[in-house]
Amino acid sequence: MACFLSLFLFTAFLISPIYAQTCTSQSFAGNSTVRYTNCTDLPSLNAFLHWSYDQTNATLSVAYIAPPANPGGWVAWAINPIGTGMAGAEALLALRESNGSTVVKTYRISNYSSIVESNLLYDVLDRRGEFSNGTMKIFATLALPENMTSFNMIWQVGPSVTNGVPDVHAFQRSNLNAKSSLRLLATAGDGGSAGSPSPSSSPPPTAGGGGGGGGGSGGRSHGEKLLNNGVFGLSVLLGSIFVFVF
Ligand SMILES: *[C@@H]1O[C@H](CO)[C@@H](O)[C@H](O)[C@H]1NC(C)=O
Ligand SMILES: *[C@@H]1O[C@H](CO)[C@@H](O)[C@H](O)[C@H]1NC(C)=O
Repeated sequence: MACFLSLFLFTAFLISPIYAQTCTSQSFAGNSTVRYTNCTDLPSLNAFLHWSYDQTNATLSVAYIAPPANPGGWVAWAINPIGTGMAGAEALLALRESNGSTVVKTYRISNYSSIVESNLLYDVLDRRGEFSNGTMKIFATLALPENMTSFNMIWQVGPSVTNGVPDVHAFQRSNLNAKSSLRLLATAGDGGSAGSPSPSSSPPPTAGGGGGGGGGSGGRSHGEKLLNNGVFGLSVLLGSIFVFVF
């Protein structure tokens, strides 16, 4: 019995953090009135994007969730209409003011060396920041161009803020990998997968072609992730039974 119990605890310990890290298991407490229809586990920096796209007026509501690099740091999410990196990004950035309240600022990032607070290319219909339990959230609604059905996005977390200005982020692999793309509308035969390796509105790759998906980690569906987690969980379980039996 004791053996079984420790086996169970051991297995649960290994599996549960994996399940905790998918956006489908996240819920919003408090006064959040918006319900998001879609969510995407961003492939880097433990970040998540919940979103709803209203096609009738081309508005995108997002909740971006990430832990800043330090409690006094910042988090940011951006659409880049002209590239895949930081240059050209239309960014929403959350930081804490000296009085403790979390604010969301907007930045149009023209180059890597300086970032200047300014209005975005897109109308920001609302924005709000939150900080709790080591995690920052950016809630915002953007009015997008009507023909924009997918876009490149980047996101980031930073360690500190000096006089209201976010300090430079680290350049670890996880920081540099924080880019992907988001497809707002599912195409026929898509199976409801959120995100796409192909940011432009180019036709979907045909079978055997389109090998240049470029690290399209945004393209993995929740189903696939859950399946992978399930398979991982099962092999952990079998592995631990093996250890205990033999
Ligand atoms: C903190 O300061 C900002 C302006 O910098 C203000 O908008 C906000 O209401 C203040 N928050 C509190 C809790 O006083
Ligand atoms: C977003 O969610 C809705 C409702 O679940 C679904 O119909 C749609 O296909 C999803 N969009 C994408 C791009 O996955």
